Amino acid sequence: MLIVTRLDELRSARSLLDGKLGLVPTMGYLHEGHISLVRRAKAECDYVAVSIFVNPTQFGPNEDLAKYPRDLDRDLHLLEDAGVDLVWTPTPEVMYPSGFQTWVEVEEMTRPLEGAQRPGHFRGVTTVVTKLFNAVQPTKAYFGQKDAQQAAVIRRMTEDLNFPIEIVVCPIVREPDGLAMSSRNIYLDAHQRKAATVLYRSLSAAKEEYEKGERDAEKLRRKMKEVIASEPLAQMQYVSCADYDTLQELEKVTGKTLLSMAVFFGKTRLIDNFVLE
Ligand code: PAJ
Repeated sequence: MLIVTRLDELRSARSLLDGKLGLVPTMGYLHEGHISLVRRAKAECDYVAVSIFVNPTQFGPNEDLAKYPRDLDRDLHLLEDAGVDLVWTPTPEVMYPSGFQTWVEVEEMTRPLEGAQRPGHFRGVTTVVTKLFNAVQPTKAYFGQKDAQQAAVIRRMTEDLNFPIEIVVCPIVREPDGLAMSSRNIYLDAHQRKAATVLYRSLSAAKEEYEKGERDAEKLRRKMKEVIASEPLAQMQYVSCADYDTLQELEKVTGKTLLSMAVFFGKTRLIDNFVLE
């Protein structure tokens, strides 16, 4: 496994990989969710590249950039074991040279949900992902359904900017009790960790209503809120029942639908979602 930091090193390593290349962009502190993307890329491509970069421009001023968990040695071992060919760990100076002032912005779709709570977040994501795409030039790029809006925004951006890259969105990997795996789960204390299953429980309750025939989106939102409210350590930020593609809130569920939510446990903010087909 080749590990590179500088852009010229990345480019010469890339030029030696002749065949289908899969890219898995990450911010490190890897878990089984990230590794599932690597496995899918291994199955579909000749070579797999992983980027590890805690991207400062997608964090808000009051978010956890400084204390975002990092463990590069552990990450590299996991990637080696998973059979990754190339790891790129750029520095902030590589990604944001001094005088940097060029941004990529997706409009409508970044306004609701995460975009409403985290101003500027998606501008940081789409800018860094564009730079990763330009540098690595993958055949396919792998993203998790865990960050549903991010995946939708990147699909839109790839089409809008004519990147010759296939975007593959992979299912959410969960702990045995239903909690979606996340680098941020490490922030939870034992009580919060137990309480955090409420996201999965409330999504499951809404899905059950849907399966019984409920199509009123407001009733599904109310069901999710009710379950979250039953958990004293959970503080709801939003729940949503929205169109899967446009991310607009629905009145009636007719087509493919995204149930999603953001919930605080103390200072830790968790997101989760289910797709209703
Ligand atoms: P990060 O949070 O490290 O996640 C990297 C990728 O792993 C994302 O596509 C995310 O959706 C996926 N992922 C995380 N948890 C998952 C889970 N439990 N199951 C399946 N996939 C999961 O998302 C980012 O980094 C950044 O925004 C990035 C795209 C790298 C741009 O900086």
